Amino acid sequence: MFPSISCRGEKVYLRQAREADVPTLAQWVGDMEIMKHVTMRTFTLEEEYMWFREMKDNADERVFFICLSGNDELIGSCGIHDARNPTAVGIGLFIGDRTQWGMGYGTEAVQLLLDHIRKECCVSRVWLRVDTVNRPAIRCYEKCGFKIYERHKNPERIFSNGEEYFMERFF
Ligand SMILES: CC(C)(COP(=O)(O)OP(=O)(O)OC[C@H]1O[C@@H](n2cnc3c(N)ncnc32)[C@H](O)[C@@H]1OP(=O)(O)O)[C@@H](O)C(=O)NCCC(=O)NCCS
Repeated sequence: MFPSISCRGEKVYLRQAREADVPTLAQWVGDMEIMKHVTMRTFTLEEEYMWFREMKDNADERVFFICLSGNDELIGSCGIHDARNPTAVGIGLFIGDRTQWGMGYGTEAVQLLLDHIRKECCVSRVWLRVDTVNRPAIRCYEKCGFKIYERHKNPERIFSNGEEYFMERFF
C-alpha cells in the first residue's frame, strides 16, 4: 500500500510511490552495491513493475519514497512491514542514489517513518533486521533510538558472513 500522506522533514520528505518512479527505482535495485545488504540480489525493470503492482494491493506493507526537500529529487525508498500487526511493526530502507549516502538523509527518513508509525499504527514496538557488517545502517538506526537485542545466524545473509542483528525501538 502507498500511504497518501506526505511526511516532511528538514532535509527529506516521504511521499507516496508513483508508477512513473519505477524506472528510477529499477536502476537502484539493479545495483548489487546498493542491494547486497537489503535483498542480497538485484531486480530487473519488469520485476520492479510487478513488485509495484503487488505492493499497491498489499495492506501489510506500506511503501514510501524518499525525496530531497530542497529540489524534490527522488533518492530512496523506505517502508513498514507487517503494518496491520497490533503490537509491533518492522521497517526497512535504502538510499538508492549512492552519491547521497552519509548526508544524514537515511537518519531523517527513519525519524519521519517513526513519527508516522507513532501516529498511525498504534504500536509500542518497531523492529528491523540489519547485516552485522553494515556499520552505516547500524549507526543510522542507533541514532534513531534502536538497540540490538539479538545476533542471529542466517545463512542467507551472504554479504555479512551469515549473520544479522535484530534491532528494536519502543515508544
Ligand atoms: C544505510 C543507509 C540507509 C544509511 O543512510 P545514510 O543517509 O547514508 O546515513 P546517515 O548519513 O543518516 O547516517 C550514517 C551514519 O553512519 C556513519 N558511518 C558511515 N560509515 C560508517 C562506518 N564504516 N562505520 C561506522 N559508522 C559509519 C556516518 O558517519 C553516520 O553517522 P554520524 O552521523 O554519527 O556521523 C544508506 O547508506 C543505504 O541506503 N545503504 C545501502 C542500503 C542499505 O544498507 N540499507 C539498509 C539495510 S538494513
